[in-house]
Amino acid sequence: MKPMKPVYIAAQAVTPFIGKGNPNFIDKGHEEFGVRENPTLEDHIVGVVRKLIDDHHIDPTLIQRGYIGNFAGELFSHQAHLGAMVARADERLSGIGFARVEAACASGGVGIVNAIESIQSGLDVVLVVGAEVQTTVRAREGADYLARAAHYASERSIDDFTFPALLARRAKAYKEAYGLSERDLAHFSVKAYDNANRNPMAHMCAVKMTLEQAETASDGNPKILKNPELHDHLKVSDCSQVSDGAAAVLLASEAGLQKLGRAMEDAVKLRSYGFCTNPLGEVKDLLELDTAAAAAGEAMRDANITPQDIQVAEVHDCFTIAELMMYEAIGLAEKGKGKELVLSGRTSIEGDIPVNTGGGLIGFGHPVGATGIKQTAEIYRQMKGQCEDYQVQRELNLGLTANMGGDDRTVVSLVLENTV
Ligand code: CAA
Repeated sequence: MKPMKPVYIAAQAVTPFIGKGNPNFIDKGHEEFGVRENPTLEDHIVGVVRKLIDDHHIDPTLIQRGYIGNFAGELFSHQAHLGAMVARADERLSGIGFARVEAACASGGVGIVNAIESIQSGLDVVLVVGAEVQTTVRAREGADYLARAAHYASERSIDDFTFPALLARRAKAYKEAYGLSERDLAHFSVKAYDNANRNPMAHMCAVKMTLEQAETASDGNPKILKNPELHDHLKVSDCSQVSDGAAAVLLASEAGLQKLGRAMEDAVKLRSYGFCTNPLGEVKDLLELDTAAAAAGEAMRDANITPQDIQVAEVHDCFTIAELMMYEAIGLAEKGKGKELVLSGRTSIEGDIPVNTGGGLIGFGHPVGATGIKQTAEIYRQMKGQCEDYQVQRELNLGLTANMGGDDRTVVSLVLENTV
């Protein structure tokens, strides 16, 4: 879709993503254990909204509508009705309509779609927040909650770690069809960790990953799947993180930018978007992310661009195989050739098509409801030269996001254009 009425990102904010392995995450081994607690879901939501308002001097009374992407607040934090939670961030937000949007790991992306379409229906300033807290339970229990993003009745039993197993199933099929080594997949993991090491906001900012570590199963990098057919096709280094965090973007029409006092050069234009859903549990071809291909294809068609025009991208690397298949779904690589792109270095920060510069879901982290919004904020920050140690050192005018819910069941893709 191409918005009839132009839509701009007027401002963005992201909280640091944390979880196991992050120096600020309090667990039993931490020196502040018992002294300080990790931020709650409410802390993340309130914190990111206040950050957006304060950092960009936003008058909250100008916000006319808001959406919050969240997948499983009830399960991880015993908290639903998160639209009304947003209003706790600032008393001037009282009375504005906010609602939660749920589409598994694409909740954030679908929140942005709702905001764009609200602007098409006449509003000028719409807030989109995304947040998730997942570290309140062990990873095995969390895997059961996350499995609700699959077709629970038919797919839960594939493995205790349902989503890792669903994507390991794709890795196995891909290896059989095209050939793919552990070292090939390790390159995706190493790129994610290397980028995260340059990004102090990233969950894995302090964790190093070498090619040798990522390609070899070990006590520190175990194969966690019990399903005998899938056991060999996934290690911990292939996985995105169980993270807590939040992100927010403020979308505005041209009139909205003026009301907010934001200059055009402070904005990024949302040139087009694609939004597709396919039936849960009915993946047709393990070798293709066809929902992602449809959403990104729609976004690029309506932006009147080809994959070769994209200068920076944020794609949903929930597992290493997902990033590879995203390259092919978007058209950055031909079918069966995705690994060549990462091996060539072209998708590194120094390459000609940098992908997931802040570390992606594997390195930056994956608080699922926040991810689609964080991806959008990342492209904004890259275009505006705000990424410090992981800044791409050239002008960036066109970027693309691809935010995936479930096993390629819901996908939102945005084409973003710098305004100056
Ligand atoms: N040897 C053998 N097995 C070991 C081991 C070792 N040295 N160390 C751990 N394990 C096994 C154990 O069985 C352990 O389970 P128990 O805790 O019950 O013993 C299991 O691995 C997990 O170990 P940990 O809990 O210590 O692992 P962790 O906390 O470091 O987490 C992870 C690692 C399980 C990979 C976790 O990071 C994870 O679950 N990541 C994926 C998150 C995910 O799936 N997100 C959703 C992505 S899908 C998407 O984006 C789309 C959507 O809509 C959902």
